[in-house]
Amino acid sequence: MSLEAGRFNLAMVLSVHAAISSHQPLSASPEQRLPSPSSGAAPSALPLSRAPICKKSLIALSHAGRSIARNTRCGVTVEAIGDIMAATGLISESEAWIDLKDHVAEINKTHLRELLTDTSRCEGMIKEHDGILIDFSRQRATQKTMEKLFSLSKEAKLEEKIKKMFIGEHINSTEDRAVLHVALRAPRTEHIFESGRDVVPDVWEVLDKIKDFSDRVRSGTWVGATGKPLTDVVAIGIGGSFLGPLFVHTALQTEPETAKAARNRKLRFLSNVDPIDVARALNGLKQETTLVVIVSKTFTTAETMLNARTVRSWITSALGSNAVSKHMVAISTNVKLVKEFGIDPENAFAFWDWVGGRYSVCSAVGVLPLSLQYGFDNITKFLEGAWSIDQHFRTAPFENNLPVLLGLLSVWNASFLGCPALAILPYCQALQKLAPHIQQVSMESNGKGVTIDGKVLDYEAGEIDFGEPGTNGQHSFYQLIHQGRVVPCDFIGIIKSQQSVFLRNEIVSNHDELMCNFFAQADALAYGKTPEELRAEGVPDYLIPHKTFTGNRPSLSMLLPTLKPYTVGQLLALYEHRIAVQGFIWGINSFDQWGVELGKVLASRVRTQMNASRTKGKPVEGFNHSTTTLLNRYLKGKTQLLYPEPQDVFPSNILVGPESPVALEDED
Ligand code: F6P
Repeated sequence: MSLEAGRFNLAMVLSVHAAISSHQPLSASPEQRLPSPSSGAAPSALPLSRAPICKKSLIALSHAGRSIARNTRCGVTVEAIGDIMAATGLISESEAWIDLKDHVAEINKTHLRELLTDTSRCEGMIKEHDGILIDFSRQRATQKTMEKLFSLSKEAKLEEKIKKMFIGEHINSTEDRAVLHVALRAPRTEHIFESGRDVVPDVWEVLDKIKDFSDRVRSGTWVGATGKPLTDVVAIGIGGSFLGPLFVHTALQTEPETAKAARNRKLRFLSNVDPIDVARALNGLKQETTLVVIVSKTFTTAETMLNARTVRSWITSALGSNAVSKHMVAISTNVKLVKEFGIDPENAFAFWDWVGGRYSVCSAVGVLPLSLQYGFDNITKFLEGAWSIDQHFRTAPFENNLPVLLGLLSVWNASFLGCPALAILPYCQALQKLAPHIQQVSMESNGKGVTIDGKVLDYEAGEIDFGEPGTNGQHSFYQLIHQGRVVPCDFIGIIKSQQSVFLRNEIVSNHDELMCNFFAQADALAYGKTPEELRAEGVPDYLIPHKTFTGNRPSLSMLLPTLKPYTVGQLLALYEHRIAVQGFIWGINSFDQWGVELGKVLASRVRTQMNASRTKGKPVEGFNHSTTTLLNRYLKGKTQLLYPEPQDVFPSNILVGPESPVALEDED
């Protein structure tokens, strides 16, 4: 048995941490942001000056994982940064990785039951920043494990990669883009550069526009086509243009201050192209009091655009085509397509291609719909919370850096201990949409099979994320995580609940009861229950195998003081950066998403076929036997359901009718 004594946060742990204090300030000018060849910040930097550099005109570009500083004004190309993002080999070939592989045998000789008796170890594994406490002591890790993980981070050049993200280098090399969602929450006084341009003023120009617009809508100064205030908002978008805003909206709905700010207002989301979602989103709404926000980074996503056309027809069918300018606004990077759709560019809210869709909730994508519902001031607090974690992530030594620790231990669980999944288990109903949001952020980011420079991985990257609020999950899938597969769990608890129920005859409040489960579950997973304990309780022999819990199942417990806009922002940024850390270690590009494209192309072929079969009676051809059979069955089965032509048909009218809306369970 190798139980590690000593503290996890020993200052001497690794020299890599000393270097972190050398993080450059965000206010560095573009030329300052280029590491000097002697700085040591970029060991693979190539100071290949072929001509004197005209520093003021340096623009960071990037191609195929190589960052290149190009002097455009002087017309001279100078490679000055090198290719830290490009993995030169697989990280699995590194000594640090192999060392961790060997270390697994040592950890396999331990049990959390014993590791948790080491108070010094446990103390060192409880970390805190800006009100958030994370207890890592139920991870199957010792001080030695942490040292080895820090060595791995050094090998993977984690520190340099984080730095590159914050200074706007094009670390998303396959799309030649910077990854600067952190700039979306930067205070006005910050300076963050992308291709030589300070983007903070651009961010604030849009934020100011959102404040002005949302104030006018909320106060009733901006009215609809018939002069009525717009009290209801339908946000149309999918993926990153939906899940983040839905997560935040759900988190704030029951918080007393934000709930008060949202009084008499509705915010609905329409994401799925399924007409049932249209029916649910529009159920009971009236066109004359509804504002539609089309959210699409590209403004080409098939589902979003069909839903946008559908809801535009719903608006104009009642109010006429001129109503679009009063009832429809857009959030996109593609102002040209917004205009072509018929939305006045004045009513468009921009964001930038350096914001990935799944990282866009802090752009207008989230800030506009959420400000319309909760007021701009509340949503700026959300941005401030995220920014607080951004600064912590950028500057804290790794041994105290929450996102870094979260990321490293996830890699440990997934790549070394053989646990491909993560259960996200908030003991807070208001966080019910956290897991669906993190599912996209994590799985679309890290679900990759090759390194950033295209080498096939010989280890699994990515993590299967799922989750439900406790205690609901306990009555669903916890059986599997207690006695079946080993699934690392994130338990998230809130100290002061948004809502309070206390019955005189109960010994604890309802929220206390919830939290009793939060505390109990982590220990149940860690300790389990032995056959000896069962025998001592008089459990009959034949039941002992069924009632035994092996324990030794890793989890972490996170405590937030409250769930308010600020802490929701902190939570979001913690997960975003954890996922970036994982990807940086695995050596993949966490910021592209080529894997979603193929299905879209095939769907378009089916669309063409479906239309040809319906309108011209063309037989289904060019597909395999399975798809041909299924398509024929579908086309045959649906001939009975033709709607009378030529009018537009809205499911809300057909299914529920404006006079007698059916009460659907919705997000209001
Ligand atoms: O599903 C792929 C994807 O591109 C996501 O990355 C993105 O969040 C979503 O579609 C929506 O894209 P858009 O905002 O361009 O409509």
